[in-house]
Amino acid sequence: MSKLFSPITFKETELKNRIVMSPMCMYACYEQDGKITPFHITHLTSRAVGQVGLVMTEAIAVMPEGRISPQDLGIWDDEHVAGLKELNEQIHAYGAKSATQLAHAGRKAVLDSAIYAPSALPFNDSSDTPVEMTEDDIQKTIQAFKNGARRAKESGFDIIELHGAHGYLINQFLSPLTNKRTDMYGGSKEKRYRFLSEVIDAVKTEWNGPIFVRISTNEYSDEGNSLEDFIYFTNEMKKQGIDLIDCSSGGVVPVKVLSYPGYQLPRCEQIKHETGIATGAVGLITSGLQAEEIVQNDRADLVFIGRALLRNPYWPKAAADELGYSIGAPVQYKRGWN
Ligand SMILES: Cc1cc2nc3c(=O)[nH]c(=O)nc-3n(C[C@H](O)[C@H](O)[C@H](O)COP(=O)(O)O)c2cc1C
Repeated sequence: MSKLFSPITFKETELKNRIVMSPMCMYACYEQDGKITPFHITHLTSRAVGQVGLVMTEAIAVMPEGRISPQDLGIWDDEHVAGLKELNEQIHAYGAKSATQLAHAGRKAVLDSAIYAPSALPFNDSSDTPVEMTEDDIQKTIQAFKNGARRAKESGFDIIELHGAHGYLINQFLSPLTNKRTDMYGGSKEKRYRFLSEVIDAVKTEWNGPIFVRISTNEYSDEGNSLEDFIYFTNEMKKQGIDLIDCSSGGVVPVKVLSYPGYQLPRCEQIKHETGIATGAVGLITSGLQAEEIVQNDRADLVFIGRALLRNPYWPKAAADELGYSIGAPVQYKRGWN
């Protein structure tokens, strides 16, 4: 019996299997207005047809200045809702659930306008220096996450993921490498967690569905957060009702990371077992056997698949074939499925 293809429920939301399409920026909003395009609908719906259990959009910016690039998806305006609604109708029509990754790029935004961060430290030599956020900027940004959650609900998403990884804004507050503040949002780990904590509380006033948080579980720097710090953050998130921690790594400071199959898994497993929270594993998971082993041995609850799903939208079918397991075909494809 395959566990990869067994259902799992978060709050009231049942996913038909443990396969998640990992969030991936497509830089395809060519009008630079954050609005979803026919490309995004085709791209994401194809993975629903391909039998992914949870289809997640790319990082979706809660403020225009929170975009990684001008071509990113946005959810900062009520005008974004209609297109996202259409996307969700399509994803749901093929039996998948949908998620969106609420995001703010902070100092890693590459835009022509001003960029913002907890401290005025550029990411690297070619990056702009961000403006250090005032407490008023912080409150406005928390409100933007809250409004993003409201629009995600109006758009029909089933799950929200908060992007707290890869050195983007939430991660910039969490990390001592990027947060040098001396007010109540910086200093001790308790104070560095405060921004994320307030974002979660604000999102929960608009959203009662499942919430995942993606974190970078390794900052690849001795001066960065330690595993103990991540366990502290995770326990706090668990107390706030977060349903799953999606365990990625890196991106906080420019460091070359050696990646190999399952390279992010050990910390994912440790976080799961030390806190008892559900986790998602991600990073060079490319085969059905590898994915099955991860969930079967309780190393994670979900597997997030990125590039392998770019190469093959029918990756779940290929994984099932590898495991000798039969999954249902989309009704239109029955004659060609087995
Ligand atoms: C083109 C591309 C865009 C990405 N955009 C995002 C993103 O928007 N949000 C995010 O959290 N991770 C993003 N990632 C990281 C992926 O979600 C995933 O964590 C990473 O690719 C490792 O998984 P993989 O080996 O299965 O591809 C992106 C990766 C790729 C290749």
